[in-house]
Amino acid sequence: MRIAVYPGSFDPITNGHLDIIERASKIFDKVVVGVLNNKNKKPKFTSEERVMLIKKVTKHLPNVETASFDGLLVDFAREHSASVIIKGLRTVNDFEYEFQMALLNKTLDNDCETMFMMTNSKYSYISSSMVNELAGYNGDLAGLVPTDIIHYIKEKYKH
Ligand code: PNS
Repeated sequence: MRIAVYPGSFDPITNGHLDIIERASKIFDKVVVGVLNNKNKKPKFTSEERVMLIKKVTKHLPNVETASFDGLLVDFAREHSASVIIKGLRTVNDFEYEFQMALLNKTLDNDCETMFMMTNSKYSYISSSMVNELAGYNGDLAGLVPTDIIHYIKEKYKH
């Protein structure tokens, strides 16, 4: 069985992330979305909220699971018997950092391969930080994040 992990902060999940998850779920037998619970970062959404939002928008994908992790990505992949790490690339700006991470992860676990998927061009400008900035100004999130979770994000920004 070919299992892949798709890691990220997902603070919150965007349409760009969901597009990668949907496409990866067609290629792999199972995709485990890994939500980084980094104690040094100050995310807008808790890891429980981020996992809940991802589960809500991936419930139509039976071979996708979501879990949080707070250690090394290669350990998370190993725990889930995944031999592939999926990363999405939007622009050339993403490349350098991702290239470095891929080489580092390969050094940490030679059996784990990083595979890059090009983002759908219609989502290439979307990032979680832009979603948060827009939500902070009560901007329209339609098209940026899955429709099902817009109300949840807006609610978060009311407080
Ligand atoms: O969505 P992001 O914030 O770009 O995702 C970054 C992520 C979660 C993929 C990356 O920070 C990560 O893999 N963190 C886990 C810790 C780790 O394994 N780091 C690499 C070796 S030091």
